[in-house]
Amino acid sequence: MTPADLEFVAELVRRHAGVVIRADKAFFIETRLGPVARREKAPGVTALLDQLRRVPDPVLTRAVVEATLMQETSFFRDRAVFEQIGKVILPDLRARRGAAPLRILSAGCATGQEAYSLAMLATDLAAPAAVEIVAVDFGSFPLEKARTGLFTHFEAQRGLPIRRLLAHFDKIDENWRIRPDLRQMIRWEELNLLDDLSGLGRFDLVLCRYVLSSLTPEAHARVLDSLDAACRPDGVLVVGAAETPALSAAFSPGGTRGVWRRNPAFAHEPARTQA
Ligand SMILES: C[S@@+](CC[C@H](N)C(=O)[O-])C[C@H]1O[C@@H](n2cnc3c(N)ncnc32)[C@H](O)[C@@H]1O
Repeated sequence: MTPADLEFVAELVRRHAGVVIRADKAFFIETRLGPVARREKAPGVTALLDQLRRVPDPVLTRAVVEATLMQETSFFRDRAVFEQIGKVILPDLRARRGAAPLRILSAGCATGQEAYSLAMLATDLAAPAAVEIVAVDFGSFPLEKARTGLFTHFEAQRGLPIRRLLAHFDKIDENWRIRPDLRQMIRWEELNLLDDLSGLGRFDLVLCRYVLSSLTPEAHARVLDSLDAACRPDGVLVVGAAETPALSAAFSPGGTRGVWRRNPAFAHEPARTQA
């Protein structure tokens, strides 16, 4: 893969997903594009990209962009954040909302570990059935895996307390499968966070973790505005514990790093810092 190939791919990914690809990711990108080239019967990655330069093709463009996105995730990633969600945020929301269903968004859900971790915490509530989790991602492949609820032993071990593994998974050969009661709490949707999110409705708890830090400044601002609009006026927004989004005064630190509480006194306008 040549530097020009990398710049071509980086521009596609920037334009279509808002994600920045760093120059040191060339090896990773080439490895990820190999299977796409084989599927397209192109003799290699450079030939695949030449084909795309000559004949722009939205389906192939999407496949190339999707293949380059990082899907790093694990169950209960940033354990302290999930402790707070399970012990404080969900019980508090449940008390405030009464019998109304709690709605949770996992934006950039990758292969689903984040959404399933939330579903496990929801089963600790008095009325777990009244929790709806919507999980969205750009990628169709990670979502396909998420929907199956099937994880390797290695994936299941990463971050998952043994009592949760035994309570919520069935062992299938060498793998572990999430039980149907948890699977049916989650609606999976292929969605670009740069697009209009209003069709998803409003949420009590919005998670968008380890996505914002990968975006261009323009995409970062746009996605923050959409997430703010998707958050109920007194809702909670959770980003990655190591992320520092440019949030407006409508949000104040909500305890554990990465947790932000929305102040209902602020109107639903830009979530980000104004220049
Ligand atoms: C590093 S993973 C984080 C997964 C999970 N939120 C976590 O923290 O464990 C980032 C995910 O964001 C998704 N993503 C990146 N840009 C996106 C966009 N524009 N629209 C939707 N999803 C996007 C990627 O496909 C990937 O699955």
